[in-house]
Amino acid sequence: MPRSIVAGIGMYVPKNVYTNQDLTRYMETSDEWIQERTGIQARHYADRLGETTATMGIEAAKIAIERAGITPQEIDFIIFATLSPDYYFPGCGVIVQREMKMKEIGALDIRNQCSGFLYAISVADQFIKSGMYKNILVIGSEKHSFGLDFTTRGRNISVIFGDGAGAVVLQPTAEEGRGILSTHLHSDGESAEILAMYNPGTHGNRWGHFADFNDAEIGEAFMSEAMIEKAQNFPNMNGPAVFKKAVVKFPEVIMEGLQANGLQTSDINMLIVHQANLRISQMIQKLLRLSDDKVYNNIQRYGNTTAASVPIALCEAWQEGKIKKGDLVCLAAFGSGFTWASALIRW
Ligand code: UT7
Repeated sequence: MPRSIVAGIGMYVPKNVYTNQDLTRYMETSDEWIQERTGIQARHYADRLGETTATMGIEAAKIAIERAGITPQEIDFIIFATLSPDYYFPGCGVIVQREMKMKEIGALDIRNQCSGFLYAISVADQFIKSGMYKNILVIGSEKHSFGLDFTTRGRNISVIFGDGAGAVVLQPTAEEGRGILSTHLHSDGESAEILAMYNPGTHGNRWGHFADFNDAEIGEAFMSEAMIEKAQNFPNMNGPAVFKKAVVKFPEVIMEGLQANGLQTSDINMLIVHQANLRISQMIQKLLRLSDDKVYNNIQRYGNTTAASVPIALCEAWQEGKIKKGDLVCLAAFGSGFTWASALIRW
């Protein structure tokens, strides 16, 4: 069975940079609070009209495809991970297919939020191992800035997220030992609502999370005025609860990957975890006893870009020469769902 290698990788971040200080114009917050709690100094926001999740994904994809030494017409399958699609439906994959003038290939959208990219490469890996496809384009892209509550009410979330995209082309390799060694996917829906955007949605309060709405308001529409008034059209998060779970599940799923391959933490050459919070990344690093040169973080400059965060960090680390052929690269993510995942790649 062939293994999948990353044949090409690319990233794109919009040009508009918003520092923590910039955000103080819209809400009660401070550079000090944001840096101390998250490590974030700045994030990029897409142009409100010109740029979308799909267009950013396409920019990253163009670079990945060129670096893989192929053309868009040679891509056999698209997997697009995002929580902020251009349309509620259809997904962004078909927009990529159309705009990049690809053949009438399959296009799959993945909705696994922060672990979306990990789920996406796991799916792609299975298609490659089975021999079904040879060139799979995997994109993680987010335009968070379109849908955040930039008032003080939403500050625990809005200061964290940023926009951007990353992409890889996965291909089979005949080279012994190289490629994706294994992927490990998990979920626990018990806490589905503690990091979620409820509307627009079909829930009709079936899960009982809208005590302050009456049935008429809930039943009124897919997204009613009452919902907008009560900020139910924005993401909600119980940050401390997510934090506590993340610092347990990240090391667990990394160790699961290492054990499945008979490897140890000391074998890792580069660890890239979903950029959720610098404090989370540092706690994982400490637990795994990894030195600074074996961990790559860029949340300071981009904030949390959800499905895009792992491929953006992977791309930057590779561009900076921090990942070389033969290195053991460990990727891991945790987020809304909860879902979490890891992947080990012999580069
Ligand atoms: O990528 C998806 C997965 N997401 C995560 O992994 C996020 C995990 N959670 C976190 O990163 C952290 O919980 C946050 C960064 C979101 C928040 O940090 P925290 O240390 O857990 O703060 P907190 O939510 O407990 O809030 C502490 C205080 C509160 O005020 P009081 O009640 O103590 O008076 C908040 O209202 O900080 C206040 N606060 C803010 N103050 C200034 C919340 N957001 C802000 C803000 N600026 N932006």
